[in-house]
Amino acid sequence: PTQELEARVRDIKAQLGKKLFIPGHHYQKDEVIQFADVRGDSLQLAQMAEKNREAEHIVFCGVHFMAETADILTVDNQKVYLPDMRAGCSMADMADIYQTERAWEKLTNIFGDTILPLTYVNSTAAIKSFVGQNGGATVTSSNAEKMVQWAFKQKERILFLPDQHLGRNTAYSLGISLDEMAVWNPITDELEYDGPVENIKVLLWKGHCSVHENFTVKNIEEVRRNYPNMNIIVHPECRREVVALSDMAGSTTYIINMIEKAEPGSAWAIGTEMNLVNRLIQEHPDKHIISLNPHMCPCLTMNRIDLPHLVWCLDTIMEGEGHNVIQVDDKTATFAKMALDRMLERS
Ligand code: 13P
Ligand code: SF4
Repeated sequence: PTQELEARVRDIKAQLGKKLFIPGHHYQKDEVIQFADVRGDSLQLAQMAEKNREAEHIVFCGVHFMAETADILTVDNQKVYLPDMRAGCSMADMADIYQTERAWEKLTNIFGDTILPLTYVNSTAAIKSFVGQNGGATVTSSNAEKMVQWAFKQKERILFLPDQHLGRNTAYSLGISLDEMAVWNPITDELEYDGPVENIKVLLWKGHCSVHENFTVKNIEEVRRNYPNMNIIVHPECRREVVALSDMAGSTTYIINMIEKAEPGSAWAIGTEMNLVNRLIQEHPDKHIISLNPHMCPCLTMNRIDLPHLVWCLDTIMEGEGHNVIQVDDKTATFAKMALDRMLERS
């Protein structure tokens, strides 16, 4: 029964006090996020993991790569747990370290020492480590522009992985034309590009978010037709053409801030994960808010963290065993931290 489970979480939180820290990503379910000590987007959660030195147990309510990041940024006596190990990210799964090493070899054969790798935080610790070792950095959706500008001060070109859409949208907003962007296909190990390769400035990994790819130009046309006064705001993991036709694009925190400061009575169609959109609808009854895609788009892996898994994970901590510990090996963590630090210093 839900009430018993909720009472159990409250009881464990009271018993462990500051020894327990529960960060929660904005896409988490209400039944889970209500117990988060802090809520945030990927950047804020990484910053908070780095700042908190009191907690011995960090129960991460988000997905696997976020828990790995928290482990990399915390110290030895702090343990990070993921309540359900199946809470991965389909985008992060689109780039593995072997594909990345192969791509790097081929691309550096073509372009020499002119490429800086940047990886979206939605990637494995092994890829962050590879990027750190090669002078690059991580980015999140809230600092991507700043980090891409930084990268172009170091090298002539960037390899941006694993989200082609965030990479393309960010580069485009900085004035780089679509003709200067090529796509690296990690399945065929080939560059998808028609023109002369010297013109390429941005190499985009062919990955995407299966949630945000569900927002389409047709969705936008329908909203424009049915609600001519509606503002359309989307996450930059959406395709280029969707971002181009929207009124605004930004990270989950940006979307929340825009809705919070919007005029009562204003109308919004939001292109991001369903749990967040539903929460904004509930919290702002004075505004007309809908999902840009009427069929809504859940992130199935984020949703794997539910109240029963949270309680189970906390119970194992209380029993002294602590299951589902996320531990990145030292060598990987050292280089991954270099990539994360380069971002955090500039955020
Ligand atoms: P942000 O929290 O950085 O907006 O990213 C969204 C996301 O897809 C997290 O997986
Ligand atoms: Fe990964 Fe997309 Fe889910 Fe974010 S919303 S965790 S990018 S699958």
